[in-house]
Amino acid sequence: MTHQSSQDEVTFITGPGGRLSGPVRVPGDKSISHRSIMLGALAEGTTEISGFLEGEDSMATLQAFRELGVAIEGPDQGNVRVHGVGMHGLKKPSAELYLGNSGTSMRLMTGLLAGQKFDTVLTGDVSLSGRPMKRVTGPLSEMGAIIQTTELGTAPLRISGNGELQGFHYQMPVASAQVKSCLLLAGLYASGETCVTEPAPTRDHTERMLAGFGYPVEQKDATVCLKSGGRLQATRVDVPADISSAAFFLVGASIAEGSDLILEHVGVNPTRTGVLDILKLMGAKIELLNSREVGGEPVADIRVQYSPLKGIVIPEHLVPLAIDEFPVLFIAAACAEGETILTGAEELRVKESDRIQVMANGLVTLGIKARPTPDGMIITGGELGQGTVVSHGDHRIAMAFAIASLRAKGAITIQDCANVDTSFPGFLETAQHSGLTIRS
Ligand code: S3P
Repeated sequence: MTHQSSQDEVTFITGPGGRLSGPVRVPGDKSISHRSIMLGALAEGTTEISGFLEGEDSMATLQAFRELGVAIEGPDQGNVRVHGVGMHGLKKPSAELYLGNSGTSMRLMTGLLAGQKFDTVLTGDVSLSGRPMKRVTGPLSEMGAIIQTTELGTAPLRISGNGELQGFHYQMPVASAQVKSCLLLAGLYASGETCVTEPAPTRDHTERMLAGFGYPVEQKDATVCLKSGGRLQATRVDVPADISSAAFFLVGASIAEGSDLILEHVGVNPTRTGVLDILKLMGAKIELLNSREVGGEPVADIRVQYSPLKGIVIPEHLVPLAIDEFPVLFIAAACAEGETILTGAEELRVKESDRIQVMANGLVTLGIKARPTPDGMIITGGELGQGTVVSHGDHRIAMAFAIASLRAKGAITIQDCANVDTSFPGFLETAQHSGLTIRS
């Protein structure tokens, strides 16, 4: 089988300068969209989702659950109806499940599928097939799961349905919401109690959404626990706009003189707002308006106005809370006065690309002093020039360099941008509409 779409060549060409204005609503939260399909599928009754991200990653999850026998209507303008099959209603798929570029689909589904009575095989694109999966298959095998990886600990993952899972208490060595969520989903099928302790707070959408579907979850300090044997009750899920997609415009408006922008209905879960804290420390002018809670998740409109930025030492405790936002935060650092130092972020090397090396290469091409370190980067703010950069098929790298054009002296050409559709369908139009000079 060939799997197309994002593999097709797409190049962005940007023009220099501009300022951002107007209200902007970016697409739905990717993390919440994935989880809404997974929990909706396991629930009793019909789950109605609005604001669902129609990007390739969350669509990979949606399609995989169809192949697991779940009837799903939509998406139709962000509306999806999932006809839940209950905790034990998933069916063996007729073929391998292809999950494209989506690490969240693969890591979370591995936990869930390890608890089923049938075998499955999970595959992905070149990037996903190179990403570390031992971080989930290791602890899952301690629970009794039987999963085969390549010798390198990567996908394809062959999950055997013969595993009888036992609950356990896992101390996570890395701060990873994907690992935590994977083990909690396995815990739904494990005997007794499953607990996960994290070394630093990570996004807690799984815990919140389980509670929203009526499943008891206990949280005490850094440990979250659940017991098997419960049931999920279908509910409504209103997916807020993704703060990780909003981040491009938060930085864009901060660096482009004359900008004044409102990002509407953005999820501001405190486990995701590191980007706001880091930008504020750099001197950004950001205000949260109309703060409210929607379906168990905090939401706000965010106003951001141009403000000169200064370099900072990024506090390490903010790293997991802004883990997906560093590509565009490096652009903010390149536009700031003085030096910005990031440490404690070695996880960036195993994302959709090696985000430390790929961003450093692009920044250097554009004339910025950027020195990669094993666990971060040291960037000295300066003048962004012009040139051709390569995103290495990483959606967030492509969008970060598009934002850099607002302060560039000349045209920036960005190669390998097709994967922008994994998380931000319509990025080009939204960017043009709000003030960027960009075309493909
Ligand atoms: C995600 C968790 C993060 C993040 C990813 C989405 C999730 O990964 O980078 O984009 O939805 O749980 P890690 O848990 O590996 O840090």
